[in-house]
Amino acid sequence: MTTVVREAPIVTANPVLGSMNDLLTDPLGTYERARRDHGDVVRFRAGPPGLRADVYAVFSAEGAQQVLAGQASNFRKDNVFYEELRRSIGNGLLTSQDETYLRQRRLVQPLFTRRRVDGYAGQVAAEGAALAGEWRERDGGVVELVGEMHRFALRMVGRILFGTDTEKAFDVVERTLPPLQAYSLKRGLSPVKLPRSWPTPANRRAARLQGELFALCDEIIASRRGGGAGDSEDLASLLVHARNAEDGSLDAGELREQVLIFLVAGHETTATALAFALHLLARHPEEQRRVQEEVDGVLGGGLAPTAADMAALPRLTRVVKEAMRLYPSAPVIGRRAVGDASIDGVRIPAGADVIVCPWVTHRHPAYWAEPGRFDPDRFLPEAEVGRPRYAWFPFGGGPRACIGQHLSMLESVLGVGVLLRDFSFEVVGEEEVPVGAEVTLRAKGAARVRIAPRG
Ligand code: HEM
Repeated sequence: MTTVVREAPIVTANPVLGSMNDLLTDPLGTYERARRDHGDVVRFRAGPPGLRADVYAVFSAEGAQQVLAGQASNFRKDNVFYEELRRSIGNGLLTSQDETYLRQRRLVQPLFTRRRVDGYAGQVAAEGAALAGEWRERDGGVVELVGEMHRFALRMVGRILFGTDTEKAFDVVERTLPPLQAYSLKRGLSPVKLPRSWPTPANRRAARLQGELFALCDEIIASRRGGGAGDSEDLASLLVHARNAEDGSLDAGELREQVLIFLVAGHETTATALAFALHLLARHPEEQRRVQEEVDGVLGGGLAPTAADMAALPRLTRVVKEAMRLYPSAPVIGRRAVGDASIDGVRIPAGADVIVCPWVTHRHPAYWAEPGRFDPDRFLPEAEVGRPRYAWFPFGGGPRACIGQHLSMLESVLGVGVLLRDFSFEVVGEEEVPVGAEVTLRAKGAARVRIAPRG
């Protein structure tokens, strides 16, 4: 029997610029409408005639699994967005490929084994307690969760991965990263790209921002050089001292880019999960009360939380998963097809840019009833039976799945757990926080809550 392979429907768009403006101004809404109007595999044409870039988008769970896992060797990180990201934040573990990637992955893998990550619970709990202490001094009041959770997540990652206090880093990262991401995205979608070396105002600004981030990484590295190889077990020390090891020594530039990738990939993503989990609970007081009951039973005894406590917090874990479903920190994941492929019976030609889209798949009515509704019970074991594996894939999948997955679940569940043990949260102002996507998901408004210390 021959399989019929169809051509992808082209998304209806502006006759002059195609989907370019829609993808720049409202990518998430544009992807959702494209699925609704045209189906699970679609083709966007972006840019003026003659300079149009084609992007294929895959929205089904089965299709996402094929792109990321089943046919992973055909879908590489050679696409325009990764190309731009590589130039902005370097060729570290997230962006590298082939031999360089394998060497880097071998080097850092030991830090991310489950046993090793479980050992970071104490650091998560200590940072949680420190934040709770600061909030208590304020004696309640209103906090803006997005900003607070960015700082919290950066502090956790700083302590765990870099063995250092990253309080100072916060300002630099907050000031430089969002505009660099926006610049990369804009270049990725732009039909005409002037070389980065040309001294246009945008290029000069991007170079300056990148320079600030590099300087920050150099400071972190310098602070870790002092100790001996066995002194510390954090990522930065491991990388610094691996320079003399037989396997996988890194040159100075690589070392800096590696640190930067972990700084970038390791904090904002988790911050989004933390902020939305707490904000959703503030919007759903009944669920908050039930989760607090669970948390009090497990973390209420005054002992420092451990990784084992995570298993005893299934309700809170479901809340975190539901927050990651509704607000996936990486709403879009890009690749480029090396050879011709067929996904969901639709032809994807060699050389095409392809995206899979947790944002849309996580709201796909084929897998989720009332997709916009907050309902953590979707993640009860019995509710998960029969759901395709990639209906929920906030951490990507296949050989390039997130290395920080277990760490970020630990940070999110225990971090939110400690805060819920000590405070109650009540939503203030806008119920729903508007979001947009640059490379990562970003709140476009404030997520304000009133916090009240508990007994
Ligand atoms: C809620 C939290 C997080 C989310 C949603 C998330 C999401 C993702 C996704 C979707 C990918 C795959 C990208 C692709 O296939 O193109 C990825 C890769 C990666 N993530 Fe995460 N991430 C999170 C937390 C973290 C943390 C805490 C770290 C650092 C410790 C981290 C470090 C990385 C790295 C280094 C990669 C590249 C892995 C590789 O290719 O081998 N992430 N992440």
